[in-house]
Amino acid sequence: MQRCLDGDDGTLGCVSARLLVGAAVNAEVLDQQDYAEVLASEFGYVTPENVMKWGPLQATADSWDFTKADELLAFTEQHGQLVKGHALVWHVQQPDWTTGLDAPALVSAVEAHIKQTVPHFAGRLRAWDVVNEAILDGGLGIRPGLHTALGISGMADAFKWAREADPSAKLYYNDYGIELFNDKSDAVYRLIQDLLAAGAPIDGIGFQAHFSTRHYPSLEGLRANIARFADLGLTVNISELDVRTAEVPGTKAERLAAQAITYREVAAACALEEACEAVTLWGFTDAYSWVDGEFGADDPLPWDETYQKKPAHAALLLGLAGEPSLAGAELVADGGCETGTGWSGFGGATIGVVANGRTGNACRATARTEEYHGPGVSLTGKVPQGSTVSVRAYARIANAEGGRIRMILKKAEAGVADEYRELAGRVAPNADWVLLTANFTLGFATTPSELTLYVESPAIDGQLPNLLVDDMTVKILSAD
Ligand code: G3I
Repeated sequence: MQRCLDGDDGTLGCVSARLLVGAAVNAEVLDQQDYAEVLASEFGYVTPENVMKWGPLQATADSWDFTKADELLAFTEQHGQLVKGHALVWHVQQPDWTTGLDAPALVSAVEAHIKQTVPHFAGRLRAWDVVNEAILDGGLGIRPGLHTALGISGMADAFKWAREADPSAKLYYNDYGIELFNDKSDAVYRLIQDLLAAGAPIDGIGFQAHFSTRHYPSLEGLRANIARFADLGLTVNISELDVRTAEVPGTKAERLAAQAITYREVAAACALEEACEAVTLWGFTDAYSWVDGEFGADDPLPWDETYQKKPAHAALLLGLAGEPSLAGAELVADGGCETGTGWSGFGGATIGVVANGRTGNACRATARTEEYHGPGVSLTGKVPQGSTVSVRAYARIANAEGGRIRMILKKAEAGVADEYRELAGRVAPNADWVLLTANFTLGFATTPSELTLYVESPAIDGQLPNLLVDDMTVKILSAD
């Protein structure tokens, strides 16, 4: 069945002639009519949420059971949907019988698994998530256990074995928390370079995009990071998109409006970057989401529990059409720091306007005695409850060989503890300007007495370097 024959029919899968739009499928509820109808009508790309993972496929060292996976493929083939296999090498739902295997035995088990599983589905899958989540949070190296046992050469072999077993399938690396420039995405970038150098046939990378409205990549930051991985010759997928809303206080309407903006921004980033070829939601109805079990009750998906579309659905249609959320007026009077109006030294730093800015002048914080001392601007009274804010600033470390820079939002609100939210953090190599950007929803029960956006950096060899900030913009996004 050729999908979208009559063009844009108001479903997510037919908005864009270029993008694949998909959902993770809970194979255990495919027999529910509402579930099957939405899945079949809205999506052209499907990822099995669980039935193609190693544990569910290979319960014992010498037996594989493809029954459930084949039943799912029968559904997708009936509805003309493409499929991404998920996930060959992952430490979660690794078969119990692999526990305790030494590294060589584990590598052999992975090889046997790939050489048995990939041929079984050969020619029927558009892609595979070959290696999933190999890098530790914070970019602190390769994850211990399965990924470390494989190492670079073993992970490269996993890609080679998959390519050999099904030359028609696109092969992906997939991970979370790597959607923006940060320590983890930098480490994944280096991992991909190492795997490519080891001859791994990697076609693409999945940004899982498990977001919340609390804060998530701005359109600009996500686009820049997609482009960075595209420079390695990879296509990019937004591979597991869902948006939690419960972390931020507000009425349900406010939370769903903010959620809609998040979905729209992320979809638009993919639509506007040629290298991004697919957006896959991690489920599609709040009736079945991993989020509730992991984070507590929430409503992270575009359909509610009764299969009614939420504001996120309409917002996704716009985002997938390449129309990002609308940005309102600039909240910061002198974001470019030409005069320093509205800027202050957060915590006690001394602020000056210097000529060597990224463009024109910049603000420089000197005489820093604490790592949280840095250039800041006040947003107090400027951000209404439940609104979604997009922030961007360029920062660099002076008089040092570079180091880590963080953009922090401080919220002081009566009756609750002061909140310091890290919106973005990066290592600034060799005192270069780095882009710090994020979007966030601000929820509060009583109007904050202080809302300050500032930039900080830790000491380097016992010294707190001067910090420069330039070209800051802060805007409120709207859903309509
Ligand atoms: O199928 C068994 C069932 O037979 C058994 O009775 C039951 C009780 O233990 O477990 C069932 O398996 C569960 C499986 O989902 C299917 O429902 C596993 O326990 C449970 O851990 C598994 O959770 C999945 C999780 O990955 C771990 O595999 C979630 O549904 C799934 O949404 C989540 O998805 C991951 C991606 O694969 C990778 N990226 C992160 C994402 C969220 O964690």
